Amino acid sequence: MGKVVEMNHPLIKHKLTFIRDKNTGSKEFRELVKEVAMLMAYEVTRDLPLRDIEIETPITKTKSEVISGKKLGIIPILRAGLGMVDGMLSILPAAKVGHVGLYRDPETLEPVEYYCKLPTDVEERELIVLDPMLATGGSAKAAINFLKDRGATNIKLVCLIAAPEGIKVIEEAHPDVDIYVAAIDEKLNDHAYIVPGLGDAGDRLFGTK
Ligand code: URA
Repeated sequence: MGKVVEMNHPLIKHKLTFIRDKNTGSKEFRELVKEVAMLMAYEVTRDLPLRDIEIETPITKTKSEVISGKKLGIIPILRAGLGMVDGMLSILPAAKVGHVGLYRDPETLEPVEYYCKLPTDVEERELIVLDPMLATGGSAKAAINFLKDRGATNIKLVCLIAAPEGIKVIEEAHPDVDIYVAAIDEKLNDHAYIVPGLGDAGDRLFGTK
């Protein structure tokens, strides 16, 4: 079973409070989401492998560690996932970015892919899937399926807020995927919104209704 890592950091908790607040406007909301994504990048990359290289300080020759050529891919699920891309890229500037767009078929209620553009070497990369609100888990589960269909084997899911229901869906469908989440909330309401949550993440990021 993959691990579920809930961020336990005062900066993230503080910023999340203002992200949740309905009086926070889109500009500030976007900035805060970016900052939280940046802080989460630190935790998500904690187990990247290192190797030694030889360098020379002004004092002496020495060995020092660098990241061991691990190739990363950042995959926002459209549209709300876009809000977390810049924060991640500010810490991981060499990562490639792929996009996955899904809609729910009104008849079957199954998620259907309408857009997918990924780095060509997706099977060699560690993929960080961005889905700010893990509610029913349907979109994240489907997006991860699409990535696996294209050869991806190393996937982490990063969310701002998750409902226990969504976490369970991912754990059951993708037990190899670790989930990183800024906060785990109480439940879903009858409209599949997370409670207390933050409302519609896409609308709040982009100022739509
Ligand atoms: N998507 C959102 O943007 N918000 C929720 O609460 C649930 C799904």
